[in-house]
Amino acid sequence: MSTCIGILTGGGDCPGLNAVIRAVVKSATRLGWETLGIRNGYEGLLTPMACMKLDHREMGGLLTSGGTILGTTNRGRFAAKTGHGEAQGIPQEILSEAKRNFHSMGLRALVCVGGDGSLSIAQQLYDHGIPIVGVPKTIDNDLEATQSTFGFDSAVACATDALDRLHTTAASHNRVMVLEVMGRYAGWIAAHAGIAGGGDILLIPEIPYTYEAICKKIAEREAMGRLFTLVVVAEGAHPKGGAFVTHGEQAKDREARLGGVGEQVAEEIAKRTGKETRTVVLGHLQRGGGPTCADRLLCTRFGAAAVKLIQEEKYGRMVALRGNDTISVPIPEAIGRLRTVPPNGDIVETARMLGVSFGDEV
Ligand code: F6P
Repeated sequence: MSTCIGILTGGGDCPGLNAVIRAVVKSATRLGWETLGIRNGYEGLLTPMACMKLDHREMGGLLTSGGTILGTTNRGRFAAKTGHGEAQGIPQEILSEAKRNFHSMGLRALVCVGGDGSLSIAQQLYDHGIPIVGVPKTIDNDLEATQSTFGFDSAVACATDALDRLHTTAASHNRVMVLEVMGRYAGWIAAHAGIAGGGDILLIPEIPYTYEAICKKIAEREAMGRLFTLVVVAEGAHPKGGAFVTHGEQAKDREARLGGVGEQVAEEIAKRTGKETRTVVLGHLQRGGGPTCADRLLCTRFGAAAVKLIQEEKYGRMVALRGNDTISVPIPEAIGRLRTVPPNGDIVETARMLGVSFGDEV
């Protein structure tokens, strides 16, 4: 049997990808295996010359660095999602070409690191006969099958830092500051950073808002002498009965690009309250830079667990976090199942106990 495994990073990047690569290479080396890095996401499976040998002696610095040394893409011939997340079938000839190349590279198995879209590609490759294991990645933390994805903690740290900074300038000017954060159709980043950063109003996709409720909260704060307000808006938040705000025209082979709701919320608050408002869209700052300690640990656990799955020849599975343990689940149990913030769950309840508004109570 071959003693060489492949690894690729697919979809959008996020902090911790390099830490997973490092963990895979180091664990594989200890088993006497080599690791081949496939460049540029799944596209690299169609251009095998573009792969690179990953030597365990060259893993220095990867634990803490941002991005992915392998490159990634959420475009190209494997693009798997459209609109609201429906998976598209990958053409048979592309899958067959990938399989031929997988064999010509002499690989034993392939580690696919990615979010929902990338894992649905992984499953199609597995169904086509390629031994695959998946590692869940996304700053959105929206995969049902794992308690946590890596990249999330780093994104929350970034958004919390932004809120800390906005806090002081908001207070100095008695302004309403609106911070728009990522997260797609899940409000995890907004909810966690909102609480950790002391936000006053958190708008998340799971709880549609009304401007009456938002302005009432601002008025209540004013009445208590709190003349500034911090609003955290998830990019997928929307008013009651309203739609997601999207950015530009949607490309054929891509998911809708969310963005712009922060500015809408800020403008409406200014109109209704007369208060000076400012908007900050945190955007890709949340995805850049190195991972937090918690993400470094999670990436290392996930990378090592992925190699263990290969050692045990348990393919078509994704590593996941359940309680305090790293487990694995069949990839189909992980894809197409969005994990959203429970509107009556602990996180929302905690915030409400502190008087935080979700823009839904008048
Ligand atoms: O899924 C991760 C994510 O960062 C979302 O939070 C965001 O909506 C999207 O990717 C942005 O994608 P892109 O980098 O393609 O604009």
